[in-house]
Amino acid sequence: MASNDNQLTWLITGSSAGLGKILAARALEAGHKVIGTCRSRKKSRAALEPLMGKGLEVIELDTSAQQVEIEANVKKALSIYGKIDILVNNAGYAALGPLERFTDEEVLKQLRTNTLGPLHVAQAVLPNMRSRKSGMIVNVSSYVGMRGDAANGVYAISKFGLEAWSESLSKEVAEFGISVLVAEFGAFRTGFLNTNAFVRAPKDVISGYEGSTAEKAYAGILQADEKQPGDPEKGVDHLFQVIMAGGFLGGRKIFRLPIGADAVEIIGDKVQSVQRDLQVAKVLEESDSTAL
Ligand SMILES: NC(=O)c1ccc[n+]([C@@H]2O[C@H](COP(=O)([O-])OP(=O)(O)OC[C@H]3O[C@@H](n4cnc5c(N)ncnc54)[C@H](OP(=O)(O)O)[C@@H]3O)[C@@H](O)[C@H]2O)c1
Repeated sequence: MASNDNQLTWLITGSSAGLGKILAARALEAGHKVIGTCRSRKKSRAALEPLMGKGLEVIELDTSAQQVEIEANVKKALSIYGKIDILVNNAGYAALGPLERFTDEEVLKQLRTNTLGPLHVAQAVLPNMRSRKSGMIVNVSSYVGMRGDAANGVYAISKFGLEAWSESLSKEVAEFGISVLVAEFGAFRTGFLNTNAFVRAPKDVISGYEGSTAEKAYAGILQADEKQPGDPEKGVDHLFQVIMAGGFLGGRKIFRLPIGADAVEIIGDKVQSVQRDLQVAKVLEESDSTAL
C-alpha cells in the first residue's frame, strides 16, 4: 500500500465483481483503507484474494437482508477501523422484462437489494459519521434512476427509490458535515447483464408482447451484454476522482454525477421532457383565470 497522509476508510458494498471491485482496487492503490462486501466469502474467494493481499478487509453482507442483519454486519465493518469516511452503496442487480410479468416477491427482492438495503447500510453508518461531523455517502445508481424505459420498469423503481432517499438524506445530513453523491452510470462492460441480472427466457416474458416496444427493448438489453459502450476502469476512475474532490466537479459541488456519454444524453432527454411538460402546465396556468 502506498503511504498516504490523507488515508480514508471506505466501505464498498458488492466489491467482489464489476464496478465495486474496480473501485476497491483503485482506493487501495491510492493508499486508503478499504472494507469490501460480498454475499459469500466462499463463492467470491478467488475474486477477492488478490485485493485482500493488498489490504482489503472483507465482510459478508446481503443487501436484500432484513435491517437487523444488515445493521449487525455494518457493525462488524465499523469495528475493523473504528470509522467509515466513505460509504459506497454499490451492490445491486437489474430485474428486467415487461412490468406485467413480475411477481410481488420478485419486485420486493429488487427493492430490498437496490433501495432498502442500501438505506439500511447508510442508517447503520450514519451515527459514526454524525459523531465525527464528517463523511460521504455515495449511492451507485444509473440513468435508469432518472428515466424508466420499456423492459426496465422494476429496476427503475429501485433506482428512482434510491435517488429519492438520497435527495432527502442529503438535506438532512449536510449540517452534520456529511454529503451524499448519486453516481448515475451509463452502460458499462461488467458482468451486470449476465452474472446477477434477473432475466427469464424471452418466451416466458414476451408472450402477448410479440412485436411490441417492450419485446424489442428486452431483446436489445439481452443482446447488449459485453457490448456496452462504457469502459468500467475509466468510469470508476472518474467517480474516484470526484469522490476524492469531496463531490466537486468543474469547481461546483454536485449531487448527481452522470457517468458515460449515454448517461449524459439520456438524463438530458429526461430533463427536457420534464421541462416541456412544465412549460405546457405554466402556459395553461397563466392563461386560465380560474387557475388551480
Ligand atoms: N454495469 C452497468 O452497466 C451499470 C449501469 C448502471 C448502474 N450500475 C450499477 O452499478 C452497481 C454495480 O453493478 P456492476 O455493473 O458492477 O454489476 P456486477 O458486475 O454484476 O456486480 C454486482 C455486485 O453487486 C453484488 N450484489 C448483487 N446482488 C447483491 C445482493 N443481494 N446483496 C449484496 N451484494 C449483491 C455482487 O456481489 P456478490 O454476488 O458477491 O454478493 C457484485 O459484487 C449496481 O448497483 C448496478 O445497478 C451498473
